[in-house]
Amino acid sequence: MRALIIGGTGTLGTAAQAALEPTYETVVASRSTDPSVDITDEASIEALFETVGEVDAVVVAAGAVPFKRLTALTSEDYTSAFTGKVLSQLNVVRIGLPYVTDGGSFTLTSGILSREPIAASAAAAMANGALESYVMAAAPELPRGIRINVVSPSVLESSTRHHAAFPGFTPVADEAVGQAYLRSVAGARTGRTLPLD
Ligand SMILES: NC(=O)c1ccc[n+]([C@@H]2O[C@H](COP(=O)([O-])OP(=O)(O)OC[C@H]3O[C@@H](n4cnc5c(N)ncnc54)[C@H](OP(=O)(O)O)[C@@H]3O)[C@@H](O)[C@H]2O)c1
Repeated sequence: MRALIIGGTGTLGTAAQAALEPTYETVVASRSTDPSVDITDEASIEALFETVGEVDAVVVAAGAVPFKRLTALTSEDYTSAFTGKVLSQLNVVRIGLPYVTDGGSFTLTSGILSREPIAASAAAAMANGALESYVMAAAPELPRGIRINVVSPSVLESSTRHHAAFPGFTPVADEAVGQAYLRSVAGARTGRTLPLD
């Protein structure tokens, strides 16, 4: 079985790959890999799936959002949060759907800010919440028994540079986050947000 992990060179993607690797032949893609992909560019997503071909699972562990105080957020910032984290992942589902085998899966990535905010997180919270609502509504409409979930972790133990921005949050083990991706890919659930607090 084959799993495509977009953002697989990053913190969450590495955790996902470590969990999937024993069971799946993994293909990692990001802007700096070969094959490469920029998920903010529809043509680049098309080209990636053309190159990689049929897969049983697609994991997206990439998505950028601006962090600014509410009163500093501009219309462009909200647009950038939407295009960088939400539309980018939704386009992977839309474009990648024909390449996923019957009974396969998509697993997207949101984050704890949808349910527990920190300072300057309104744009990120909006993006995470949008992703979580999307998978709930998209799941029953996906054809051929294809499932979709979203992994929604707190800050990871290894993301030490982000820890100061999350006072009072207990970082989650990278391995536990990897296991959540595996539960989504290899399990039976669909339309679900998998929280790791
Ligand atoms: N780290 C945490 O504690 C944490 C917790 C909860 C949620 N999250 C969310 O999880 C996602 C990933 O975070 P991370 O900490 O793993 O980030 P990261 O370590 O910076 O890794 C990001 C990954 O995505 C790739 N990437 C970035 N932009 C891309 C694009 N436009 N197209 C394709 N690939 C792209 C990067 O590789 P290239 O640079 O080569 O493209 C890299 O592989 C983010 O949306 C973040 O908000 C993170």
